[in-house]
Amino acid sequence: MADKTFTLTNDETGDAVRLMVRESVQGPPTVDVTSLYRQMGVFTYDPGFMSTASCTSGITYIDGEEGVLEYRGYPIEQLAESGNFIEVAYLLLYGELPNKDELEKFDGIITHHTMINESLKGFFNGFQSNAHPMAVMVGVVGSLSAFYHDSLDINDPRHREISAHRLISKMPTIAAASYKHSIGEPIVYPRNSLSYCANMLHMMYATPCEDYEPDPVAVKALNLLFILHADHEQNASTSTVRLAGSSQANPFACIAAGIASLWGPAHGGANEAVLDMLTEIGDVSNIDKYIARAKDKNDKFRLMGFGHRVYKNRDPRATLTRKVSHECLSALADQNNPMFELAMRLEEIALSDDYFIERKLYPNIDFYSGIIYRALGIPNNMFTVMFSIARTVGWVAHWLEMMDDPQQRIGRPRQLYNGYQRRQYVPLDKR
Ligand code: CMC
Repeated sequence: MADKTFTLTNDETGDAVRLMVRESVQGPPTVDVTSLYRQMGVFTYDPGFMSTASCTSGITYIDGEEGVLEYRGYPIEQLAESGNFIEVAYLLLYGELPNKDELEKFDGIITHHTMINESLKGFFNGFQSNAHPMAVMVGVVGSLSAFYHDSLDINDPRHREISAHRLISKMPTIAAASYKHSIGEPIVYPRNSLSYCANMLHMMYATPCEDYEPDPVAVKALNLLFILHADHEQNASTSTVRLAGSSQANPFACIAAGIASLWGPAHGGANEAVLDMLTEIGDVSNIDKYIARAKDKNDKFRLMGFGHRVYKNRDPRATLTRKVSHECLSALADQNNPMFELAMRLEEIALSDDYFIERKLYPNIDFYSGIIYRALGIPNNMFTVMFSIARTVGWVAHWLEMMDDPQQRIGRPRQLYNGYQRRQYVPLDKR
């Protein structure tokens, strides 16, 4: 079959360039513009990457028009239904579902790397107790590179794998420690007899004086949220990890960069922002006012948890979390949670409003994830931290994929310069 090409013509000079069109396994074909500047002396301009594929990847597939999300080819609904987070982590990292032995071995490795270096504990005390836990995460995760020198050779595949395991294992420990520090309680050590998600809850809620028995409903809900948040293709934080990694920075520094990018309310910070917004709205009677604000171009207010760059149909993760939030609130005897009622009413009103219909603005995963986290007793400022634990798997999988990609080069975008033309320096006494 002949290669497909795409011809671009300069209307001014009549010069034309034929660009290769690369077919994807699923999704739209991609015009390869790598030679465009060399051949035509022009750049492409695409702020926000609206039409740009920044890399090739075989990890996650999204069809935003149809509301499809697949990890390594498996529909998210099936993984959410029958998988567990560690199994999904293995799938994302290694490309295939593990067999029983592989899963047991992987689970053992992740469990046995959950402790952090004792000296790291001192870092937490250096932060103000009212520090946002995401600020603590950025700092402490970045600092792991100062501790684990034995696995920092990024050109050694075994070192890369060890670092990947360490990051996935230690994220819950660091996250729980940042929470404990914020409430002035001592750090609780991980417990190897518990699953990944049960251990997370144990480290958050146990104290040296009292054990904590993780509620199976809470563990199940956390497991689901972690699966749904584990990867999402080339989103802002994953692209940040890839860009940082492209300069051959160490993986701990790259993941810290990813955490920083995730923090923003347009991305992972949305789950915290949704709860803040619901608190601000306060009552069903105020919804119309806030919907009007969201539609007003002169008002910065947006309905948090609504809209997505890729999904122009229902976010499949939102469909799953919506169902679970209901089940979870019932099982945890929290069904009268006024936030949930308010959220359901807000969703109903927004989904019947022309503004949201025309722009295809549907609730995204984070419209519901905060409600579930809240039902589990997790404080608002920890929501994005929880997201970062799950997404670490995706970040690490993308970093590993990138490091193995023979086409990998330093990420170095160009710009459309709109500053001054060359001008002469004016001495201080003449300005
Ligand atoms: N409330 C009100 N209007 C909105 C919203 C919203 N949440 N989201 C988008 N719009 C409007 C926007 O004003 C624009 O209108 P117009 O065409 O008249 O100028 C139109 O919809 C398109 O919006 P955009 O900002 O150009 O879209 P984007 O793809 O650049 O942004 C987004 C996507 C997710 C950042 C945005 O929808 C948003 O800010 N949503 C709220 C924050 C949020 O929930 N983020 C979590 C995303 S899911 C978790 C994750 O994967 O990170």
